[in-house]
Amino acid sequence: MIKKLATSALVALALTTGGASAAGDEGHIEDIAFSFEWPFGTYDQEQLRRGLKVYTEVCAACHGLKYVPLRTLADPGGPHYTEDEVRAYAAENFTIYDEELEDDRPRKPSDFFPTVSGEGMGPDLSLMAKARAGFHGPAGTGLNQLFRGMGGAEYIASFLLGFNGEEDEVAGSVLYGNTAFPGGWVSMPPQLEDGLVDYDDGHNNSAHHMAEDVAAFLMWTAEPKMMARKQAGFVSVLLLVLLTSLLYLTNKKLWAPHKGKQLDL
Ligand code: HEC
Repeated sequence: MIKKLATSALVALALTTGGASAAGDEGHIEDIAFSFEWPFGTYDQEQLRRGLKVYTEVCAACHGLKYVPLRTLADPGGPHYTEDEVRAYAAENFTIYDEELEDDRPRKPSDFFPTVSGEGMGPDLSLMAKARAGFHGPAGTGLNQLFRGMGGAEYIASFLLGFNGEEDEVAGSVLYGNTAFPGGWVSMPPQLEDGLVDYDDGHNNSAHHMAEDVAAFLMWTAEPKMMARKQAGFVSVLLLVLLTSLLYLTNKKLWAPHKGKQLDL
């Protein structure tokens, strides 16, 4: 009874304290209902395509995706472009230095997205959605993650929308106030404003939607095989359930003749 009470108290605590954890320094993360959440969630192909467009037109100026092969843009379960579309996309948007040609050439589907580094550039975003957790606590238990997921994509979206307009200059570099970034100040300038990127599918292009779309796209770059993983997990649980019931029935049958008998001692 006491155990049960304690558990429900903890659950209630997890649900009420929300994304912002007990550690006061953590940023505020908004929970977003992404299509890829829960055991049967899948990526929304149109959303991934919109997110790719936001990445290409806005983020690629400062952020690489060096672990992502361009050809995976054609994979089912991802943006799922045709091979011709991927070839055209790679060639139009990115170049690479070719040692044999001793010159730059357009990228091909067999190349990766670019590596971006240097002054004022940001970290590589290939795995960012798995490197950051949006939800913590309460009090170090991690219960929030049980109910809301790790929240990497939520963190990215909240980070992009978290600029509060404040600026500060510290040792010669400008820092921007951001309510999602731990510590509250970040060297990345605000990026998204309503209508910045024109969507091909006519979807609403408010800053809010662009942030969600690019966050979903970055979740896909970090875990392109999520759907296959969930499917394999589901099939194994199903097999285990089947095996358990067969074992139960076998056990029952084996012991049936001996049940209810008095032991002659
Ligand atoms: C003008 C260059 C620039 C552009 C454009 C830019 N960023 Fe950044 N970004 C940065 C820099 C610099 C940092 C490092 C900030 C720091 O650690 O203080 C950063 C950091 C980040 C981080 C990591 C935050 C963390 O928790 O460490 C994410 C996520 C991010 N950017 C996403 C994006 C996305 C998505 C876009 C496109 C919508 C974008 N950025 C566009 C410069 C840029």
